[in-house]
Amino acid sequence: MNDLTSTWSGYVQEVERLLAQTLPAEETYPQVLHEAMRYSTLGGGKRLRALLVMGACAAVGGDVQKTGGLAAAVEMIHAYSLIHDDLPCMDDDDFRRGKPSNHVVYGEAMAVLAGDALLTEAFAELARMPEKYGVSPEVTVRIVGELALGAGSQGMVGGQAVDILSAEHTPDEETLRYIHSRKTGALFKAALRGGALLGGASEEELSAITRYGEWFGLAFQITDDILDEVGDAEQLGKPTGRDQDLGKLTYPRLYGLERSRQMAAECVQLCLQALNGFSERAWLLRELAAFILQRSH
Ligand code: IPE
Ligand code: IPE
Ligand code: MG
Ligand code: MG
Ligand code: MG
Repeated sequence: MNDLTSTWSGYVQEVERLLAQTLPAEETYPQVLHEAMRYSTLGGGKRLRALLVMGACAAVGGDVQKTGGLAAAVEMIHAYSLIHDDLPCMDDDDFRRGKPSNHVVYGEAMAVLAGDALLTEAFAELARMPEKYGVSPEVTVRIVGELALGAGSQGMVGGQAVDILSAEHTPDEETLRYIHSRKTGALFKAALRGGALLGGASEEELSAITRYGEWFGLAFQITDDILDEVGDAEQLGKPTGRDQDLGKLTYPRLYGLERSRQMAAECVQLCLQALNGFSERAWLLRELAAFILQRSH
């Protein structure tokens, strides 16, 4: 990575550049597929998962220059999950990141395929980590495993399945916790563990970063649920009120808004506590955790 500055916005710019470079060009045949992939991945989003990769690597004293492939891959997996999440057969949302959802522009078939391709290309980018970023084959294989588990049927996709299956059901704490820790938490956790492994984390550091990720994911999804009820659609870049329309299991539905806000704050506290043994090198992870409670998008 070139010109990497040590600021949050510098990192975000770097992620944008990496993604633009990693994704096949729009002119590549079949053009419409590559256009659809680039449409949903570039030019939007907070890039939190990539920032967590970089933040975790920095926190354990690793070389952030090595994180490019992993940072791009997690954002590609995330973009795929958003395209599929918005489909009519899922949440049926026609707006995302301030513009019409992928299927609104390219049709459902192309949106499904763009998502499929983003997921697959993400793993191709991970496989290039030894050659492009000098990551050892052993660490590469371990990271591939982490991301596959985080994204798979007992991770993000599992969470999405229970999210769909539980809509309109009586809310219960255990199911809600399952959904949030999987549909949202699992990819955050995989991104963090991947970044820590790239940075050469000790087992102790890895387990602290894992705990941070678990609380981060839960806090983040609680605030996502809250913003769906009280946030501003324009600022969020996506429609609001949809969880209620679809009868989704959310924190505000089970606990009410005020208690949900308290719970998000408690999760962030626990998240920050997990970093107690880390030096100021964990600054980005600390800033990202604090951001969750202030965010309006
Ligand atoms: C939205 O994630 C989907 C959830 C897991 C709640 P983000 O809020 O991180 O979405 P972008 O990447 O910033 O658009
Ligand atoms: C989506 O959760 C999580 C994934 C995409 C894996 P939501 O359905 O709550 O996300 P938004 O609110 O549409 O961004
Ligand atoms: Mg959803
Ligand atoms: Mg949704
Ligand atoms: Mg939501």
